[in-house]
Amino acid sequence: MNRGPATTFEPGVEAAPVIAIDGPAASGKGTIAQGVAAALGYRYLDSGSLYRLVALQASRQKVSFDDEPRLAALADGLELSFADGRTFLSGQDVSEAIRTEEVSALASKVAVLPRVRTALLTRQRAFRAPPGLVAEGRDMGTVVFPDARLKIYLTASAEARASRRYKQLIDKGNSITIQGLLRDIRERDARDSARAEAPLKTAADAVVLDTTDMTADAAVAYVLQQYQTLSAAGSTGGRERSKKA
Ligand code: DC
Repeated sequence: MNRGPATTFEPGVEAAPVIAIDGPAASGKGTIAQGVAAALGYRYLDSGSLYRLVALQASRQKVSFDDEPRLAALADGLELSFADGRTFLSGQDVSEAIRTEEVSALASKVAVLPRVRTALLTRQRAFRAPPGLVAEGRDMGTVVFPDARLKIYLTASAEARASRRYKQLIDKGNSITIQGLLRDIRERDARDSARAEAPLKTAADAVVLDTTDMTADAAVAYVLQQYQTLSAAGSTGGRERSKKA
């Protein structure tokens, strides 16, 4: 595995540049990462969907969420594919099934298990291919792609994130309360940040971007501008730190 800088890369899977976007639940990672990937013509990895797929499969197969060896084997053997923005498990479209609040909570539980995380590492790195990859999750910049050319850490207040998630779920016809969502988000934040293995934390060389009062378009533009500045300067990685409130 090439962990060196990805500036002067030969065409090849290992050397393609990566933009790593990490942050807590509902911080806008998905929308922002997809916008950046589309603008650059890069591939896109939603790493959270892998944890969600493991959770969904485990729940369907009634595997205990304490049975780490079985969950890791399940993660290893997942038959998954992505096409046209849809997610498939063993050929079945599970795009909606993996987004329920129940699967969100279960995904956060499987994500604490080191053997599950290890099983998913190779799969995540396999997404890296020319012309480049935008990868979003919790540990893209810290563990999976430590040599990412640009690392962004997104934040937003828990209230702003609960309100965004509320709008998404209500638009899809779910009956849900904002208080319940806020509680779920806080619980998930605590679990994602407190776990021993690859906890949610800011990479030392990440650019921190607070999206509480920012539109998604403005955040995409900001990330693209950071990336262009780095690329123009021929920088060797996301070493530059800045803070945008
Ligand atoms: O981003 P998301 O909400 O779809 O992620 C689902 C769960 O997976 C979430 O609880 C955190 C976990 N996760 C993780 O531990 N590491 C990642 N790289 C991505 C997600």
